[in-house]
Amino acid sequence: MQLLAGQESYMRALLEETAARSARYSAAVRGMRLAPQPQDIARLKGLGGPLPQNPSDPKETLALLDDIGSPATLASTGGRYFGFVTGGALPAAVAANWLAAIWDQNAAFSVMSPVAAKIEEIVLAWTVELLALPQSSGAGFVTGTTMANFSALAAARTALLQRSGWDVEDAGLFGAPPLRVVVGEEAHVSLLKALALLGLGRSRVISVPTDGQGRIKSEALPELDERTLICIQAGNVNTGAFDPAQDICSRAHEAGAWVHVDGAFGLWAAVSPRYAPLLQGVSLADSWAIDCHKWLNVPYDSGIAVVRAPEHLQKALATAAAYLQTSDVREPSHYTPESSRRARGIEMWAAIRSLGREGLRTLIERNCRWARVFADRLQQAGFEVLNEIVLNQVLVCFGSSEETRRVIAAVQEEGTCWCGGTQWHGRTAMRISVSSWATTEEDVESSLAAILRIAKGRKS
Ligand SMILES: Cc1ncc(COP(=O)(O)O)c(C=O)c1O
Repeated sequence: MQLLAGQESYMRALLEETAARSARYSAAVRGMRLAPQPQDIARLKGLGGPLPQNPSDPKETLALLDDIGSPATLASTGGRYFGFVTGGALPAAVAANWLAAIWDQNAAFSVMSPVAAKIEEIVLAWTVELLALPQSSGAGFVTGTTMANFSALAAARTALLQRSGWDVEDAGLFGAPPLRVVVGEEAHVSLLKALALLGLGRSRVISVPTDGQGRIKSEALPELDERTLICIQAGNVNTGAFDPAQDICSRAHEAGAWVHVDGAFGLWAAVSPRYAPLLQGVSLADSWAIDCHKWLNVPYDSGIAVVRAPEHLQKALATAAAYLQTSDVREPSHYTPESSRRARGIEMWAAIRSLGREGLRTLIERNCRWARVFADRLQQAGFEVLNEIVLNQVLVCFGSSEETRRVIAAVQEEGTCWCGGTQWHGRTAMRISVSSWATTEEDVESSLAAILRIAKGRKS
């Protein structure tokens, strides 16, 4: 067959077909079982087979992807997915994502995409205002918090070593003055991964004890100095708890240390006057890692690394070459590990533009309210909730580890909702993370009914 793509009428038909299939999925997702059935997963092999030798009709490719791929998705955008910390995808963000795919912009340099570059500037200004971070901060738009941690910690490494006259970008870490890296015992694994990637070591860190909710005990902090990097957390992945930023930041800054905040989802709580007090002192830090595919509810993948003194982020990550035409404006790739990349600021812009501060506040507070409803009702039914419900995370035990594991597996199998498991201070628990704009009261009720039915051992 002759490849027709590129012809205007063909492209229009293909896009209309794509819109129709996407709309069908979107309408169905609320009623879908959460996890695909084994037979749906088995059918995925139909996407493989021998390497295609010749071009074929793009519509056929689309149909194959939809017919085989859609049933094998987790229905995570439907409102009853409570696994990991997973936001849905806001309508405006999905629509912007489609348009951006048609634009196919390379967000590396402003000359390659003035719109992508400008949107990043706007999103940065809006984000620091929403989250009450310093207005003069710089930022890199990255894939998620893992890379946001990596980028911000690279800036910290640059700045701290520069104080000893060491240029880590030129000289590497061989023979460098040692840095002291302090983390909480409950630091997220992605933070440790970022430290490992930066040559700072996963286990060379000083690990500070935490309390029953996973908060750093600031009285247990080691001695800090101007070559110390201390990493704190705003929103523990299990409990939602916040490290005591005010205390840590003031002690760290007296000593000249750098404070980095892993605020993957918790930082978004700053938009709610009700939850903002949890973040007291967070804005005093030197850098922050934030996810946008979590509580901002943009499609994957999206995160942002914010650094109070942008020159450190730029020194750590900028590149220069004769053929790379730059200008006086902010160059996006001077703040990210990648050069060429998609213009992921576009969905963030659409999300913030369409929700506004008020819409985002409502989303955050509604999710926190649902988390409280889950916790209260599970407790009333006689099950043990392990954490204080400070935010949108619930940890619940259904008796022995074995019984809790049984309930988690059966909930996933039954398909009304999806919750994962974890270990919290030696106990096996189910995690319920309420992070999607799409979750309604009805979703919470039907999910609770399913969980309670399964936990009480009833068939239906
Ligand atoms: C506190 C915290 N930090 C980091 C991450 C990693 O984020 P990502 O998967 O977007 O890289 C998560 C993910 O849940 C998290 O909760």
